[in-house]
Amino acid sequence: MKSVLDELESRRAAARLGGGQDRIDAQHRKGRLTARERVELLLDPHSFEETGMYVEHNCVDFGMAGSKIPGDGVVTGSGTINGRLVFVFSQDFTVFGGSLSERHAEKICKMMDQAIKVGAPIIGMNDSGGARIQEGVASLGGYAEVFQRNVLASGVVPQISLIMGPCAGGAVYSPAMTDFIFMVKDSSYMFVTGPDVVKTVTNEIVTQEELGGAITHSTKSGVADLACENDIEAIFTTRRFFNFLPLSNREAVPFRPSHDDPSRVDMSLDTLVPTNANKPYDIKELIHKTVDDADFFEVQPGYAGNIIIGFGRIEGHSVGIVANQPMVLAGCLDIASSKKAARFVRFCDAFNIPIITFVDVPGFLPGVAQEHNGIIKNGAKLLFAYGEATVPKITVITRKAYGGAYDVMASKHLRGDLNYAWPTAEIAVMGAKGAVEIIFRKDIGNADAIAQRTAEYQAQFANPFVAASKGFIDEVIMPHSTRKRIVIGLRKLRGKQLENPWKKHDNMPL
Ligand code: HXC
Repeated sequence: MKSVLDELESRRAAARLGGGQDRIDAQHRKGRLTARERVELLLDPHSFEETGMYVEHNCVDFGMAGSKIPGDGVVTGSGTINGRLVFVFSQDFTVFGGSLSERHAEKICKMMDQAIKVGAPIIGMNDSGGARIQEGVASLGGYAEVFQRNVLASGVVPQISLIMGPCAGGAVYSPAMTDFIFMVKDSSYMFVTGPDVVKTVTNEIVTQEELGGAITHSTKSGVADLACENDIEAIFTTRRFFNFLPLSNREAVPFRPSHDDPSRVDMSLDTLVPTNANKPYDIKELIHKTVDDADFFEVQPGYAGNIIIGFGRIEGHSVGIVANQPMVLAGCLDIASSKKAARFVRFCDAFNIPIITFVDVPGFLPGVAQEHNGIIKNGAKLLFAYGEATVPKITVITRKAYGGAYDVMASKHLRGDLNYAWPTAEIAVMGAKGAVEIIFRKDIGNADAIAQRTAEYQAQFANPFVAASKGFIDEVIMPHSTRKRIVIGLRKLRGKQLENPWKKHDNMPL
């Protein structure tokens, strides 16, 4: 018996060593953790149950028959984060550069299948040179098997990708189909074709970092949701993030008890909106003062700052928050912000997370570039996302809600459940000056007449009461009582039931 146990131990030890101590040391020298260290840090202590430790590749070409490493470059299994089940895979760069073979893919797929079956999130830690070159089409097939499962898992269980090393070619498309991507600065890259190919094809000279580093993807392309300082920060951030998410679309949002008073009022909110309607203010102050314990997890903070998205809790239950940010582009909607918020709203809706929307929006951003790049279709994404969402939706208009953007931002007409406005709200087709310049164009040379008409328009429409008189606003609330009203609203909406008409799926404007 002892010899059998010894053999098991020695096989385990070989698997744990991956591509060998030299490659582990090289990984550490690059400031990166190994695949196993990442799993250990991500999961609760001693909770990891590994599967597929002895899986080996089946390739015999290019001398591969003689170089098999147990586990084949990916560590897979399940464990818990703060006691809640999660399935994980972590690619091992020390084994053939973490490249994806047929068997490596099978391990990931098996784990994903289980996650979908039992209803638990999937977290992938990606550190891979892409398709295992020696295997050719077998590895391409492996990728496609993973992609197929990403699609099937979408909207069923949350999927999170941590990019912790190079990710080229096929290695980027699986993360791209997951719900959230966190990258590590100066250490992780995502591109379809690397700098060398780019130079050959387009003659552009670019570094890996500029082309597909964490800063690029979290500020320019919007591919990544967060750029973390290092592996450890990325993993701890993921643990915190995980606490906001339900395990699946069949589960209620997680509950985390809070001592924050549900009836807490905050008098400072009464002066948050400046008297001058053109002066910006920080909408994050409202968010922080509304959610439990000011604990707000912002997603995509570096991209399309004119809209803020992220998770918080109200009375211990997770909520998604979408807010126009007057500090950036006056909070208007443009292509990037519409796409950013639309995807977030769809995530929340898919996973039964109520959506709180704070509105201060002067409209859609005008401009040739916006029109030529498709603001119509991209703006429609957000409209579509809010319109199809059936989760509880509470909207608070703090100041401007102009034009089409009024409609888009979870208005009553898009089945907003509770639509509140602060007394400072201005709900109109457009700002008074612009409106007067159109409808009283003949008076444009007459400054006094224009000023008078503007004041009239302002008095008539720059308030929440016209909309409230039509029932488009349910109540004009005191800013200081915003949290209290949202608490009561969400309690009321907990039993909400609403279904869209049967369809195979919609055809949202992509
Ligand atoms: C097999 C690979 C590999 C791969 C790296 N290795 N990538 N083995 N298949 N795809 C191996 C290397 O041979 C090396 O082995 C070890 O991993 C470490 O690689 P290095 O190059 O020494 O590391 P580094 O300098 O850090 O560079 C990392 C890298 C580079 C940027 C990822 O290795 C690279 O460019 N790899 C190829 C990327 C690529 O073109 N992949 C195919 C994409 S096509 P030893 O034994 O020396 O340690 C694709 C198609 C899928 O993915 C499409 C689906 C839609």
